[in-house]
Amino acid sequence: MIDVANLTVKFGGVVALDDVSIHLTSDVIGLIGPNGAGKTTLINAFSGFAPVTGGRIGVNGRDLLSMPPHARARWGLARSFQKVQTVPDLTVQDHLQTVLDSKRMPRSERAAEVDRVLDFLEIAQLRDRKGRDLNPFQSRMTEIGKCLVGGPRMVLLDEPGGGLSELEMVRLRRVITRIHAEFGAQVLLVDHDVDLIRDVCSVTVVLDFGKLIAFGVTAEVLANEVVKAAYLGR
Ligand SMILES: Nc1ncnc2c1ncn2[C@@H]1O[C@H](COP(=O)(O)OP(=O)(O)O)[C@@H](O)[C@H]1O
Ligand SMILES: [Mg+2]
Repeated sequence: MIDVANLTVKFGGVVALDDVSIHLTSDVIGLIGPNGAGKTTLINAFSGFAPVTGGRIGVNGRDLLSMPPHARARWGLARSFQKVQTVPDLTVQDHLQTVLDSKRMPRSERAAEVDRVLDFLEIAQLRDRKGRDLNPFQSRMTEIGKCLVGGPRMVLLDEPGGGLSELEMVRLRRVITRIHAEFGAQVLLVDHDVDLIRDVCSVTVVLDFGKLIAFGVTAEVLANEVVKAAYLGR
């Protein structure tokens, strides 16, 4: 359960998040809004990379903002980046293994955990491929894999569908839909693909210029005139 209360983030004169309050209990939550609305900033605030000037984030009763970024990761907060960041010299397997190294998972359990996630993502055949040889979809899957190893409690996905083909989107959709059932983590999904959001998110949050303009059942939010004007019409 996520409790965002009066969250404010400023970059100089730009108010990237403006007094945002939301109470999120659903398993898969959508987060949409036009470019510059504050979506990535919200994810950054969760993971500890945004200058929060006010408000609180409570996660299962814990005060997230008082924890340093590594403690948030160890607690089970995982995020993917809008710009995929794979290391050219590391294999897919290495990328996942590296995350586990920071989680203090017993060495004996790590290989099985990596296998489980690679199987889940249907990329086991890529385990020895180096970062430099991955196509964008494979890099994206590797990045999601990094979010899934080591018992995540909350997975924040920042536009995972960006730049993917239709076929790749089908695979991505299948993965996102099954994350909660397989790993038990709550998922927050940022994406511009309204069909994806409609399919996988039971509730959706809409930001515009840093302000919360709608929140509720996805179908209702997407039909909301204010949302259409701010987002869909642009
Ligand atoms: N590091 C930063 N420095 C200055 N301004 C930033 C920074 N990050 C984001 N912003 C500004 O904050 C606003 C929200 O950005 P962002 O959260 O990236 O939007 P979104 O992900 O919804 O497209 C934008 O006006 C953006 O220019
Ligand atoms: Mg963004």
